[in-house]
Amino acid sequence: MSTVKFYQSENQVPLEMHKVRIIQKLSLLPVEERLKKIQEAGCNTFLLENKDIYLDMLTDSGVNAMSDLQMAASMQADDSYAGSATFNRVKAAIKEVFGTDNVLPAHQGRACENILASALVKPGQTALMNFHFTTTKAHVTRMGGSVEELVAEKGLKPQSNDPFKGDFDLKKLKATIKEKGAENIAFVRVEAGTNLIGGQPVSLENMLAVTDICHDNGIVSVLDASLLQDNIYFMKTREARCKHMDIKTIYHLLADHFDIIYFSARKLSFSKGGIITSKDPKYTKMMMEYIPLYEGFLTYGGIDVRTMESLAQGLYESLDMEYINQGPEFINYLAKELDDYGVPVVLPAGGLGCHLNAGAFVPNLPHNQYPAAAVAAALYIAGGIRGMERGTLSEQRNPDGTEPFSELELMRLAVPRRVYTLSQLKYVADRVKWVWDNRELIGGLEWVEEPSVLRFFFGRLKEIGYWQEQLAEKFRQDFGDSL
Ligand SMILES: Cc1ncc(COP(=O)(O)O)c(C=O)c1O
Repeated sequence: MSTVKFYQSENQVPLEMHKVRIIQKLSLLPVEERLKKIQEAGCNTFLLENKDIYLDMLTDSGVNAMSDLQMAASMQADDSYAGSATFNRVKAAIKEVFGTDNVLPAHQGRACENILASALVKPGQTALMNFHFTTTKAHVTRMGGSVEELVAEKGLKPQSNDPFKGDFDLKKLKATIKEKGAENIAFVRVEAGTNLIGGQPVSLENMLAVTDICHDNGIVSVLDASLLQDNIYFMKTREARCKHMDIKTIYHLLADHFDIIYFSARKLSFSKGGIITSKDPKYTKMMMEYIPLYEGFLTYGGIDVRTMESLAQGLYESLDMEYINQGPEFINYLAKELDDYGVPVVLPAGGLGCHLNAGAFVPNLPHNQYPAAAVAAALYIAGGIRGMERGTLSEQRNPDGTEPFSELELMRLAVPRRVYTLSQLKYVADRVKWVWDNRELIGGLEWVEEPSVLRFFFGRLKEIGYWQEQLAEKFRQDFGDSL
């Protein structure tokens, strides 16, 4: 993406600094088929098949478009079981980007979390976070620990002007450490580009303040850097002290302050796999025994070697502003179009994707009828677009069977990097607007099969009443024989 100024200001759009050289055919089913497919999928967009989807905006995980250099790099892979040259190239990329020497590979981000939790969480301890991520919380609780969220109040306001809604509430952090006692805190985790509150960034100032508090209290600080690339874009564009810092300096500063950094390479580096790194070898030593046990030998950790080569190249490219601004600027474009239509979206737009505020979209639907999942089903019917529920359905039931209601009912439209064009985003905005104008037709969902853990992945639901049929009929009336 460039900062090229258009002559006609009304033509100003985000302008890509790359071209597309490989394409994949898409198809859009007729609305009657889309209705059938979402019902067969138990109204769960995770259970749709890709062949039945026009625009897949479920996630940005592992579905970003790789660069030519990433593809080329994958051809030089060395698949020796131990001591592979590929691992040395990954280490060199980590050293360049983060400035750290100690590197553990794992097969993806949640595998890093499994290892982190296995090494650091003792039963009864709490992990403090700005906000939980589904898999992180599942691993901490699996070890007998608990998670406490300390995001600043502004983070839970769907619309505001605040540039860093992922920030920790520092006062609360200090008070919680005092109240619980440092020995009862397993670690403090900062999630960059906070996923479940709309990809909202954390400021550099806040991150460094958190690490100072951890340091003063002898608590391990952990950075989940999966969405750090977007977060750094926001630091550079929204935080005065970062404006003139180069991107690498920010990465290095973070690695100097956090004890442990891990990331899903499905996100950071646009490849696959996961990495744990630390400046101080004592942390990687604490965790290394788990790698051969759960992942693979220490020089591949369950990641395919060709993928490791594209991971290394992708990390170098995460230092290039012309690459890293594409996601946030496309997301901002979509959020702005929707906001102009009056559709409730999370503002300011974060990274990862554009988030519809389903709580405001269908305010009459109670949490336990899953408003965000209902909006996701409606949008698939309306346009063959697959989004993801990020609300109450994505929560886990309490041990006593009660259901925690999510503070935010969000329906995420992830924007995989460099995958969709601006005209496709215009189509998304158009179809969302149609759903918004017909929102009174949208009803709730109820369980047919509810798994006890990570229910949002494979649970099955059905519509309450016949609102989906009515929505499809209305589509036909409004759009004639258009797909
Ligand atoms: C912030 C964050 N942490 C961890 C993970 C888990 O990574 P993975 O999907 O590679 O297991 C994700 C995945 O979406 C994430 O967004």
